[in-house]
Amino acid sequence: MNVVILAAGNGTRMRSTLPKVLQPLAGAPLLAHVLQTARALQPHKLIVVVGYGASLVQEAVAAPDITFVMQEQQLGTGHAVLQALPFIDPQQPTLVLYGDVPLTHIATLQKFVQTAGANRYGILTVNLEDPTGYGRIVRDETGQVVRIVEQKDANAIEHLICEINTGIMSIPAGKLSSWLQALGNHNTQNEYYLTDIVECACAEQVEIVTEQPQYAWETLGVNTQVQLAALERIYQHNKATALLEQGVRLADPSRIDVRGTLECGPGVVIDVNCVFEGHVVLADGVHIGPNCVLKNVVIDAQAIIHPFSHIEGAHIGARAAIGPYARLRPGTHLESEVRIGNFVEIKQAAIGRASKVNHLSYVGDAHIGERVNLGAGVITCNYDGQHKHQTRIEDDVFVGSDSQLIAPLTIGQHAKVAAGTTLWKDVSAGVLVKNPKTQHETP
Ligand code: UD1
Ligand code: CA
Repeated sequence: MNVVILAAGNGTRMRSTLPKVLQPLAGAPLLAHVLQTARALQPHKLIVVVGYGASLVQEAVAAPDITFVMQEQQLGTGHAVLQALPFIDPQQPTLVLYGDVPLTHIATLQKFVQTAGANRYGILTVNLEDPTGYGRIVRDETGQVVRIVEQKDANAIEHLICEINTGIMSIPAGKLSSWLQALGNHNTQNEYYLTDIVECACAEQVEIVTEQPQYAWETLGVNTQVQLAALERIYQHNKATALLEQGVRLADPSRIDVRGTLECGPGVVIDVNCVFEGHVVLADGVHIGPNCVLKNVVIDAQAIIHPFSHIEGAHIGARAAIGPYARLRPGTHLESEVRIGNFVEIKQAAIGRASKVNHLSYVGDAHIGERVNLGAGVITCNYDGQHKHQTRIEDDVFVGSDSQLIAPLTIGQHAKVAAGTTLWKDVSAGVLVKNPKTQHETP
């Protein structure tokens, strides 16, 4: 089939400089969610109609499988699909989706396109308690759909109809071109309504079928920040429910935000107010304390992340313990049983098994062996104002508190560095180094 996604509208009511379809839901643009769903249907052609903020929209979601079509003026949904016509394969049916309706289930659309097939005209409808604002599905006495009437064009009786047009349609192969070209704009909004093709289908006795989604929220669109926030909560509620069903223990399913993919092994426990971004993997028995932010992180079995830790682009080994108040930046690789304590920042560093950096340290551009102990306040001075340099610390080294390690530097195995040392050259294996110091005492 062809898939056409309408994404040209400006979304004035969002009161935002960002085009509406780029507003984020669960960390990704609304349009990205629709594209992901569309791709699952394996369309023959994937066309996105852009208009308002077109270059920003194209830049944000560009991919080789997408054809972008420009709609210079937003003259209505029918006019929008008309712009896509030259790129549509007329031998295939065409599914129309909206760029601002992000939560439709793939299964709902699969069932819908199957029902419509190649030769029926399908409309996804839903019954709403309050249908205000939507196009109403008008049926005759036999229950046949005969028309869709927009809120602004509807009469008093039509206003009472609760079955509405979600906007999602499947138009039969070979019909789109003639039906679109027949559209007029003689209505209250002077727009070319895509919904008017219902009358063409009736006139040509093309069978019209309707299908409803399992949940009404699957077809909710975003017009305001209030609606966007409501959809975000629905999305997060669904994610949390799926995690619970899978056996993850969530301290409170209403206080977790997943903005990407979160893979959990058995026995994972997640406390309140945690945010997961990008791709996060938590292996068996991992425990995440409250108020942690994890982005693109892999955590091996039984590791514990204590509260208020911020972790990005890191791999954490089995049984490691991190935080509270740890900051792990991209390029952090911790082997098993590593211990990172409070107010420690790690960047571009590999730390070997069972090593400890427990208090108030900065470790950047470093390679640290096994069973190393870095005392409180140890700093790798990795930057000379122009270049970054490496620090190498071999197995079983002990560095006393408040020492500065001026890179590039290597500290050999089993060496000891006394507290308060400013190291500026390599240290051989097994030795003790300290700064020359005089201690003055006054009575
Ligand atoms: C449309 C339907 C209405 C349906 C409702 C569901 C028509 C005439 N009406 O109304 O029956 O109940 O959606 O939400 O189709 N767009 C363009 N170019 C345009 C106009 C719109 O790309 O020229 C895009 C918008 O960006 C949006 C979508 O099409 O993603 C729907 O447009 P919108 O103006 O919100 O349509 P409604 O008036 O809500
Ligand atoms: Ca709308």
